[in-house]
Amino acid sequence: MKKTQWYKEVTCYQIWPRSFCDGNGDGIGDLEGVLSKLDYLQELGITCIWFSPLYCSPNADFGYDISDYRNISPDYGDNELFKKVLDEAHKRGMKVIMDLVVNHSSDEHEWFRQGIDKNSKYHDYYIWRDGRGKKLPNNWSSLFEGKAWEYNKENGQYYLHLFSKKQPDLNMDNPEVRQEVKDIMRFWLDMGVDGFREDVITFVSKREGLPNALPIPQACGMEHYMDGPHIHEYLKEFREVLNEYDCFVVGEAPMMTPNKALKYIEEGDGMELDMMFHFQHMEADCLFTDFLATPFSLKKLKGAFSRWQEKLYGKGWNALYMENHDHPRIISRYGSEKYRTESGKSIANSYFLQCGTPFIYQGQEIGMVNIDLPKLDDYQDVFVTNNFKTLKLLGFSDAKATARLKSANRGNARTPVQWDSSANAGFTTGKPWMPVNPNYKDGINAQAEMANPKSIFNHYKALIKFRKENPMAIYGDYTEHCKNSKDLYVYSRSYEGKRMLVICSYTEKAAKFIAPEGFDLSKGKAMFCNYDRNEITNNGFTTRPYETRVYVFD
Ligand code: NOJ
Repeated sequence: MKKTQWYKEVTCYQIWPRSFCDGNGDGIGDLEGVLSKLDYLQELGITCIWFSPLYCSPNADFGYDISDYRNISPDYGDNELFKKVLDEAHKRGMKVIMDLVVNHSSDEHEWFRQGIDKNSKYHDYYIWRDGRGKKLPNNWSSLFEGKAWEYNKENGQYYLHLFSKKQPDLNMDNPEVRQEVKDIMRFWLDMGVDGFREDVITFVSKREGLPNALPIPQACGMEHYMDGPHIHEYLKEFREVLNEYDCFVVGEAPMMTPNKALKYIEEGDGMELDMMFHFQHMEADCLFTDFLATPFSLKKLKGAFSRWQEKLYGKGWNALYMENHDHPRIISRYGSEKYRTESGKSIANSYFLQCGTPFIYQGQEIGMVNIDLPKLDDYQDVFVTNNFKTLKLLGFSDAKATARLKSANRGNARTPVQWDSSANAGFTTGKPWMPVNPNYKDGINAQAEMANPKSIFNHYKALIKFRKENPMAIYGDYTEHCKNSKDLYVYSRSYEGKRMLVICSYTEKAAKFIAPEGFDLSKGKAMFCNYDRNEITNNGFTTRPYETRVYVFD
């Protein structure tokens, strides 16, 4: 088996193409824009790019509804231009991974269109069922809108859609569908891409007979498709293709726990995925999903971090992230907009120096924050209407539900990247498809961040460099300290005689930190601090707002 390890050493950067950089002035980010920013990514130190879907799509879910798996959307360019981006990225020492969205396609995909005809071979590419008299085929709900079934007048049947009705679920039990998936993988791997991020991959195998489920709102049915009956079989089948290439895959896995994760990612011959995006550390201020808010709990966050670090160490590899296109900006959630730079750096040290492969989402490196738009519709998130209904069911008033969803919807992460202080933050010369956060004029932009040695950008740049030069930061073991603190997250790593201690405050209040036994701060080298003076008193210090320090011991 050809098995590579480079995926453990790269630092990945996620591009959500529509909002990254517009090269042709039509207001939509594109691949010309990406080309123009490859040097920027290289300057930051990035060694792998993950592209959210670039394929043809009617954009009901901005690319996560694919109508052609082998062609780049004209919004972004074409296959030739993509190949150029790929080659230019490779020249700069960056790997490139694509999003692979195969739980569902778009209803505008040729397979779906043809498959409406029950006699077409494509009918069985999707999950069609007759109604039960006047009832739907089962009681499952869509995660995005209403019920999981949509009626089709032409053939008199219902099709399953776990997401929007424009995203019909593919029937992975059909070997021909799995063959298509493998062919699509080969198509891009043969072109030179270095792997995939696999969208909701743990949902692709549904329980036989599609039985009714426990009647919970919005996620009804989940127990019958999450980690479904044939998931491991199918992923092993896909792995056979992947093993022919020097590539890696990271699977998106809602509701994943470390014990279950090991079934997918435990290293060895049976390994299916190289790592997983779980959600547990994204639930420190909510119940499973961003809009069901709870007060931020550092203990919850630390618990999730440590569970994954401890359970996986030496067995499976972690994917480390704090932001992506599906969650509001992290400074606005777990940090403080008032202490944007301080908290941005404290959050960075919290996750980036753990064991695993770090991912940075576009704009995170310059400390972008949430946006306040007049209406919920302005956020353009297909998920919002459903979430609004759920909040109403839970007894929220319209005003309260709106306020909650303004800060808890995905549009917050999808505003155009703020490049400089010129019109539209330098994102486009046209009219941006989504409003630009006006705070680009107040110094939240890449140009200003790059010029300021104490910026979040330069903090990430230094972290990336450090990680490249210190195997300890990549391979070292992990120990959590000060577990009972509600204000401080503290952990250490050690590897081949070298150690580091990472201290991160998650509060603007003063908190007392005393170094754990065995660490003499006066003998360590202080790095990645977010304040100028770093005095030590009695082997500890009292933290300033969102203070963070890292001590390295050689
Ligand atoms: C997860 C993706 O990250 C999200 O953006 C998308 O809406 C759903 N999967 C459905 O594809």
